Amino acid sequence: MTKAELMKFFHDIGIVPVVKIDDAEKAVPLAKAMIRGGLPVAEITFRTAAAEEAIRRVTKECPEMVVGAGTVINPEIAKKAVAAGAQFIVSAGLNPETVKWCNENNIPVVPGVCTPSEIEQGLALGLDTLKFFPAEASGGVGMLKNFAGPFSQVKFMTTGGINASNVTDYAKCGNVITIGGSWMVKADLIENENWDEITRLCAEALKAVQGLEFVHVGINNADEAEAAKAAKMFEAFGLSTNKGNSSTFMDKDIELMHKPFYGTKGHLAFRCIDLERTVYYLSKFGFTVKEESVKYDAKGKMKVCYFNEEIGGFAIHLVK
Ligand code: 3PG
Repeated sequence: MTKAELMKFFHDIGIVPVVKIDDAEKAVPLAKAMIRGGLPVAEITFRTAAAEEAIRRVTKECPEMVVGAGTVINPEIAKKAVAAGAQFIVSAGLNPETVKWCNENNIPVVPGVCTPSEIEQGLALGLDTLKFFPAEASGGVGMLKNFAGPFSQVKFMTTGGINASNVTDYAKCGNVITIGGSWMVKADLIENENWDEITRLCAEALKAVQGLEFVHVGINNADEAEAAKAAKMFEAFGLSTNKGNSSTFMDKDIELMHKPFYGTKGHLAFRCIDLERTVYYLSKFGFTVKEESVKYDAKGKMKVCYFNEEIGGFAIHLVK
């Protein structure tokens, strides 16, 4: 994977589990549990003697897994990790020697920073994606918002103190490319070979990062007159009419289309944080984007789309 492809993958997957493993024998079953949970990616940290062998085994046995090395404190460890199969290098701090070695050898590297000066050091080394660590202890989401001002070109992989309860807040930060953490692969779960729980926590993390919520139902009508008639009927239920150009909203919950639109009967609209990411996520459930329905914002990011698949005659609509 090139650096650009890896960064796109990081963005789309949204979550990078941080693994600390004591027994390399457990690496492959762990990777399989993560893959079942929808997270074929791991940063395996050099905090244990088993890290190198764990990377080697997962790379060999689970080719679909994107494996990187974490806690890489110097170029020697980076070399070992890459020789074992690591596709990217992560560190808690920023060691210019490690970054230079990775740059010279075309290995994507994401060193850790938590201050503006360290960010500038990363920029000077040619990097535009950095790890924000330890995120929660260094000011969390508030700090990321402050970084977005002077360092609008920098994207962060955030880790440290993130879990199921605050992951959605990080996902909402525009400068967060991906969220890392150990909460779904805790050492005791690995130790006790609690693979089903790891699978469940991976799936839960992946869902949380989408921030999906149902927003409205759209009903197709033959024409504006039919939509107006329907509006009158909904008013009997206490809903108020807000007429627009192509549709009429009843409160914010029901959209009466002024002519037949996507979906045999209409559509179900869901809000998410990042459409590109959620399109990738839903593709794993068989959803395919209706290309002609996609609209982009001024920054070229997807802001609206529909899927080809219908549920009960209703098309699925994603909005930001
Ligand atoms: C890391 O190195 O990124 C952290 O140890 C992960 O942080 P967490 O264990 O608090 O998730």
